Amino acid sequence: MAICIRQIHPVFVGEVSGIDLTKPLGPEEVAAIEAGMDRYAVLVLHGQNITDDQQLAFSVNFGAIENREGGNITKASEYRLKAGMVDVSNLDKDGRPLARDDRKRMFNLGNRLWHSDSSFRAIPAKYSLLSGRIVADKGGETEFADMRVAYDTLDDDMRTLVADLVCEHSLIYSRGSMGFTELSDEERKMFTPVRQRLVRTHPVTGRKSLYLSSHIGGIVGWPVPEARDLVRDLTEHATRRPYVYAHKWRVGDLVMWDNRTTLHRVRRFDETKPRDMRRTTIAGDAMTVEQAKAA
Ligand SMILES: [Fe+2]
Repeated sequence: MAICIRQIHPVFVGEVSGIDLTKPLGPEEVAAIEAGMDRYAVLVLHGQNITDDQQLAFSVNFGAIENREGGNITKASEYRLKAGMVDVSNLDKDGRPLARDDRKRMFNLGNRLWHSDSSFRAIPAKYSLLSGRIVADKGGETEFADMRVAYDTLDDDMRTLVADLVCEHSLIYSRGSMGFTELSDEERKMFTPVRQRLVRTHPVTGRKSLYLSSHIGGIVGWPVPEARDLVRDLTEHATRRPYVYAHKWRVGDLVMWDNRTTLHRVRRFDETKPRDMRRTTIAGDAMTVEQAKAA
């Protein structure tokens, strides 16, 4: 059965049929998915009841798996999942929902803010692939916004203003904006800000997009409040409702997105019940701009 992709939102997002992730993919199938990602930016695959190994095997078709270190406050000894898997659940190592005041839970609440995965890394992520193993009955949707459309719909003055701007991204800024500021010296060092261009050009399609994220705390050369005001304005513009797709999860869904061209966030849900979501992340292959020299 051949892969077929149907657009399910007015501006982006494709739904893929004719694919079975429990089996290895052929080169034509991989090429079809890559082409679908370049076109739709988000792909939805239903009915994929996969193991972690099957998720990893599918993921490596699109590049190297990103190293999860440096992306969270969870210590290696507390990981619930094997290497290569990023735990986006609300569960502890023993599979129980995290307590309300658990530091990991509070840190993970930052995923409710619009962001692009790993924009806080000098080489930011290419794709993310999220598998719904236990989903929320109500809420817990993942929302996506198309940053190519966000760029295309800027007026000329704004397009000129943002053209060469460089932003500073860090988990310190996204968590700080939620009032989560208690970080150890080691965590602060791990979350040292990195620089990213505000306008990116897709390496395959050549389309420009806004590279926004709640991890942004400043713009190089700008006063901080002025920078944050502009980033808020742009984020509001970029996430207007007609340009947002809300994914309501079913068990066995796999949703994959291009972090270079989309923003996403998760919505609230009943955290006393397990929600088991497992992510694989495909590493990017280049910095978007040269980094500042270490002081
Ligand atoms: Fe994310």
